[in-house]
Amino acid sequence: MKLSRSIVSVVLVSATLAATACKKTDKGGGGSGATGSGGSGGTSAGGGAIALLLPESQTTRYEAADRPFFEAKFKQLCPGVDIVYSNANQVAADQQQQAEAAIARGVKVMVLDPVDGDAAGVIVKNAKAKSISVISYDRLIRGGSTPDYYVSFDNERVGKLQAQALLDKLTSMGKAKPKITMINGSPTDNNATLFKNGAHSVFDGKVDIVREDAAANWKPEEAQALMEAFITAVGKDGFDGAYQANDGTAGGAITAMKGAGIDVKTRPTCGQDAEVAAIQRILSGEQYVTVYKAIQPEAEKTAELACALFKGDKPAAGLVEGKVNNATADIPSILLTPIAVTATGDAGTKSVADTIVKDKFYGPDTVDKICTAAYADACKAANIKK
Ligand code: BGC
Repeated sequence: MKLSRSIVSVVLVSATLAATACKKTDKGGGGSGATGSGGSGGTSAGGGAIALLLPESQTTRYEAADRPFFEAKFKQLCPGVDIVYSNANQVAADQQQQAEAAIARGVKVMVLDPVDGDAAGVIVKNAKAKSISVISYDRLIRGGSTPDYYVSFDNERVGKLQAQALLDKLTSMGKAKPKITMINGSPTDNNATLFKNGAHSVFDGKVDIVREDAAANWKPEEAQALMEAFITAVGKDGFDGAYQANDGTAGGAITAMKGAGIDVKTRPTCGQDAEVAAIQRILSGEQYVTVYKAIQPEAEKTAELACALFKGDKPAAGLVEGKVNNATADIPSILLTPIAVTATGDAGTKSVADTIVKDKFYGPDTVDKICTAAYADACKAANIKK
């Protein structure tokens, strides 16, 4: 078996922050003692540990947003507690090993964004056998398991927003029953199913889906190969618009279209994640729409939940208000709202300026990151200023 190439790091949080030390309640090892890990196995620092397991690193959000936002909030709320971090680089077997390592290390809470939502059921069962609480992060864990909580976006709505924006754009271009290609996300990711279902609920009966397939591992190069095959099959002019489940796969599909000599500015496309590269494509007219999901609140609410679980507390009132059924049980859930974004906010969508820029989605230098020299004019046209 291939050796895990995961990034594994342990964030050691200074144990000297006694004044703000994590409050230990009924089952945290008692008192405010700096040592003792609550009896759940040896941990290096006195304060115990939790795990954050993310699925891949080709999509920029995980290393650029989910991880840093989660870690910063968790450290603030639960100082002195280690965070065992692993990224599975899209290999489910590696994630399984990473989870086993975290369990062996004695973490008390596991935040798990599964590569394979069904296969990860085993991880949840193993964790729960050791009384470890599990938060299903962003993607729903199934596989006959019962994670304690689920934190994500309304993912069917993501698919609806993508499809509606594409359909509206094509209608405004005078296409009565537009021809669409569809590239869905990885079939092992429950979100991909929800995006697809949401998109079909808008498209079916209103568009002609000329080709549809899935990027097996969410990889841009998979989407590129699929789009090349679609173009070979239906011809350069055999489709009016293209649905891709996220910005990475949109990038791959757009590369294929350009390679075939298609003027991508005349061929509306969609993605999701509001990646910098996608926002630049949107501003220059090479991609039509993305779906913006504010990762900071998703990661921070998860950190709040993880710290409460670590301390044996109940989540703060109002934090967890929904429920999502994972085919085994109703999982108490936090579901955030996604937003469709076009360059200047076409009907039913918001503008880049009013969302990504206003929220400083890429940090304090958000505008510098988007508006590099090549995009200076496009930024001006979209009213993006510092
Ligand atoms: C996430 C998307 C992401 C995709 C690929 C989905 O589960 O919700 O934001 O683009 O996985 O990692």
